[in-house]
Amino acid sequence: MAPVTVRDIVDKKRRGERIVCLTAYDALFGQLVDEAGVDLILVGDSVANVLLGYSSTLPVTLEEMLHHTRAVARGVKSALIVADMPFLTFQVSPEETVKNAGAFLQAGAHAVKLEGGREVYASVSRLVSVGIPVMGHLGLTPQKVNAYGGYRAQGRSLDAAKTILNEARMLESIGVFSIVLESIPHPLARAITRAIRIPTIGIGAGPDCDGQILVLHDMLGLSRGHLPKFVKTYVDGWRVLGDAIRDYAEEVRRGSFPTTAHSFEPLDYSDDDLLRLVESENLAEGV
Ligand code: KIV
Repeated sequence: MAPVTVRDIVDKKRRGERIVCLTAYDALFGQLVDEAGVDLILVGDSVANVLLGYSSTLPVTLEEMLHHTRAVARGVKSALIVADMPFLTFQVSPEETVKNAGAFLQAGAHAVKLEGGREVYASVSRLVSVGIPVMGHLGLTPQKVNAYGGYRAQGRSLDAAKTILNEARMLESIGVFSIVLESIPHPLARAITRAIRIPTIGIGAGPDCDGQILVLHDMLGLSRGHLPKFVKTYVDGWRVLGDAIRDYAEEVRRGSFPTTAHSFEPLDYSDDDLLRLVESENLAEGV
């Protein structure tokens, strides 16, 4: 499969083809997702909650995100890799944003995603002007969890809907190649999708976006705790993998694993040879 480019993602909207996106955080799952034919892989800052044991995305650092981006890049041959810019790597100044986004491209990403609307105007414009493709993220932007007072759907009042629509138009006008719409009412997501020419990628934004994304470990049933209502779990991975581990533990305790079939045969000695070796007084000399 030829590598997917930013241009391919935009062209899919023109052709009316849905865009399939998932997160991944390492080479193994990156390869699995890529080989399953997903168009775009996001190295999400959700790695903080999903793999690193944090309760929000705020603690994950630039270095940690670069580490995960490098790992995904080693596993992926075809999908477009988008790296999520973590908290405080794009809010401080456009100059710092360019430096940090550049580090993601050097780590193997093809584009970066950053959360926010009018407050990221200057930084996004700067990235686009130096040739770094940018994916926007509007609606529920989890890095603002403290300002929201929790993970709440956004854009539910007409005023709030107007702000999100205007910010989508603004991001399009400064050159982002697509926009994630998270946890907003589906009629608003549909209206935005129709109002702009770049693709919308929905998560908790209904069926009418140009593409969809989910957190990989949520849809594989590997996430613990409360899941948002927009998640569909396609396999009970925790149970399936847990059963395999319990089976292994039981077989080891019972002595039914391993058998000799899981071991090796000697080339040129027998049990008798070994016995003689064990009984030999000179054994210590051979050590
Ligand atoms: O970090 C992430 O996984 C994301 C997706 C939920 C869009 O931003």
